[in-house]
Amino acid sequence: MKKISSIEDYNSQYKKSVEQPEAFWADVAENFTWKKKWDSVLKWDFKNYDVKWFLNAKLNITENCIDRHLPQKANDIAFIWESNFEDKPNRTITYQQLHDEVCKLANTLKSFGVVKGDRVCIYMPMIPESVFAMLACARIGAVHSVVFAGFSASSLAGRIQDCDCKVVLTSDGAYRGDKIINLKNVVDEALEICPSVKNVLVYKHTNTTVSINSSRDKWWGDLVPNASDKCEPEVMDSEDMLFILYTSGSTGKPKGVVHTCGGYMVYTCYSFLNVFQYNPGDLYWCTADVGWITGHSYITYGPLLAGASSIIFEGVPTYPDAGRFWKIIDKYKVTHFYTAPTAIRALEALGLDFVKPYRLNSLKVLGSVGEPINEEAWQWYNTNIGKEKCPIVDTWWQTETGGILISPLAGITKTKPSYATLPLPGVQPILVDEKGNEIKGNNVEGNLCIKFPWPSIIRTTYGDHERCKQTYFATYNNLYFTGDGCKRDENGYYRITGRVDDVMNVSGHRIGTAEVESAINAHADVVESAVVGYPHDIKGQGIYAYCIVPSSKKSHEELRKEIIAEVNKIIGPIAKPDKIQIVTGLPKTRSGKIMRRILRKVAEGEINNLGDTSTLLDPAVVEEIVKGAL
Ligand code: PRX
Repeated sequence: MKKISSIEDYNSQYKKSVEQPEAFWADVAENFTWKKKWDSVLKWDFKNYDVKWFLNAKLNITENCIDRHLPQKANDIAFIWESNFEDKPNRTITYQQLHDEVCKLANTLKSFGVVKGDRVCIYMPMIPESVFAMLACARIGAVHSVVFAGFSASSLAGRIQDCDCKVVLTSDGAYRGDKIINLKNVVDEALEICPSVKNVLVYKHTNTTVSINSSRDKWWGDLVPNASDKCEPEVMDSEDMLFILYTSGSTGKPKGVVHTCGGYMVYTCYSFLNVFQYNPGDLYWCTADVGWITGHSYITYGPLLAGASSIIFEGVPTYPDAGRFWKIIDKYKVTHFYTAPTAIRALEALGLDFVKPYRLNSLKVLGSVGEPINEEAWQWYNTNIGKEKCPIVDTWWQTETGGILISPLAGITKTKPSYATLPLPGVQPILVDEKGNEIKGNNVEGNLCIKFPWPSIIRTTYGDHERCKQTYFATYNNLYFTGDGCKRDENGYYRITGRVDDVMNVSGHRIGTAEVESAINAHADVVESAVVGYPHDIKGQGIYAYCIVPSSKKSHEELRKEIIAEVNKIIGPIAKPDKIQIVTGLPKTRSGKIMRRILRKVAEGEINNLGDTSTLLDPAVVEEIVKGAL
C-alpha cells in the first residue's frame, strides 16, 4: 500500500476522500486479497443506523494478515515476545510460525465443534497465544470476544452470557510484575453461571495449580501441538462479524461493540501505515493489552495486515523497575513506540535515572493513545524519550471507531502538544453545540461528532441494535456522536478535551459511573451512591464515590475497605474508587435527579465555585458534603 508522503499529498488525499469517498476507499481496498470483489463500496443511513462497506465482497482477514505475506516474508519476524521477567528467554514468531500456530489452534477449535458465527471468549495474558487465539477464530469465521484479564469473574460471566460464547480460551495464570493472577480460577467461578460454554482450553503459562473439570477443560499443550498446521480460511462476507468487544457507556451494562471483516481490515491497515509511517525493517511496539481495542487494531490486525514486525510485552512498566520500557527499546532497537499518557506520567514521576542508562536512538516515532495527553507529559516524552527528533502521534479514537480517526501522520503533520491535530482521510469531524447546531470556523469548542461513515465504524451493539442507534446516532440528527468534547484551534487542529457524558477515563480505561455505582450499591450497607471522576496526576482521572450508609455500625475505614472489595469482585481492580466519602444525603433536584455537577466540583476541590444550588431539594446536604470532602 502506498503511504501518504507529504502534507501536500495528505491534503489532496483528504480532499479526494471527502469528494469521492467510494472511489477513494475502493482504491485503498485494492491492496488486499479478496476472494470476491465488492458489488458496491458503501451503503449508509445514520437515521435508522445501517452501514455496510464493500458489499458482497468475500475475504478472510487472516489470509491478509498471514498467508498473503508468506511468499516474501515466511521467515520475517511477526512478533518478538518479551516476558514479564527480564531474564527469561524471549520468543520470536515468524510469519510462517504464526501461520502454523494459528492453523493448529483453528483446527483445535473446530474439533470442539466451533463453526462460523459461533462466539469464542478469550481471557488470556499478554502472550503470543492470545494473538493466535484471535486469528484462529477469524480463520474459521468464529467471532472472538476478548475480555481483559483484569476483569472479575462476574464481569467475565456477564460478557460470556451476553453473546452466548461456546468456548473459553484461557491460561492457568498471568504474571503482572511481582504478582501472579490465577485466571483459570476466575474462569471457573464465571462459568458456574454460563451454561453456553461447552469447552475451555487452558494454556499452561505460570504452572499454577488449577482444577480441571475433565468433561469441559482441556490443556492447550495436549491438543494444539498435535493438530494439523493447515486450515483453509473460511470465506467470509465483508459484513460478517469479526469480533465483539465490550465497552462501558454512560448507562447500563457494557455494550458489545461489533466490528465486521472487510471495512475493519481496510481501515486498520490503512491507518496503521499512514499514522506510524512504518517501513520494512522497522520494529514496532504497542504496550496496550489485547483486551482493549488498541490491542485488537494496533497489536494484532493493523501491524499484521501491514506485514510489520512487533514486540508483544507481558509485563508492567515498573517491574522490576521503572526503566523496563526503555531497556526493552534499547535491547531490541525498537523504532516505533506506542503507549498511554498514564504510563508516561507514572514513569516521569519516578525520575530520569531510570531513562538515562538506555540508548533510545533507534526510536523514530512515538505514539500516545487512550486519553488526552497533557502538555507536561507530552514535553517530557518528546524531550527525554524522543530526544526531540521523534514525531509524537497523539492518536484519538475509540472502541467504536475501530481505528485511529484524528492524529498527526508521523513526520508529515506538524505536531502541537496535546492536539490530536487533523482527521485521517475519510474522516469528517464536526463540532456541534448542545442542540446539534454545527459550530463552524476555527478557535471554537463543542461536542465532537463525525458526519460520514469510515470503513471501521461500529456496525451494531451485539444483540441490541436499538441501543447502538440510541447511544451513537440519536443525540444529533444524522451524526455519529463520540461522547467527547473538543476544541478546534486557529489552524483547524483538533484537541480532545475529554468525555462530556458520564464515562470516566481512568488510566486510559473507560469506566461508566453507573457501573461503579451499581457495584458499590451491591454492598449490603450502602443504600445509594454517586460516582464522579476527578483530575488525578497519574491516572488522568480518579474515581470519587459518595456513599450513603445510614444504619451501618462499621467504621468509615472498614466500610471503605469493604466497598473497594465489592467493586473488585463485581468489576475488577481497574474500577476501584480512589476516594470514598461517606455522606448522609446526595444533592438532588426536586424531581429527584442527582446534581452531579456539584459532586464533580467538590471532588475537584472547587468548593468555592459550586454554581447555582437554588434548585436543590435540600441545600444543607451540600454543606455537609463540602465539610467532609476528602
Ligand atoms: O475520551 C476519548 C479517549 O478515550 C475514549 C475512548 O476509549 P476506548 O473506547 O476505551 O478506546 C481507547 C483507545 C482508543 C475516547 O472517547 N481518548 C482516546 N484517545 C484519546 C482520547 N482522548 C484524548 N486524546 C486521545 N488521543
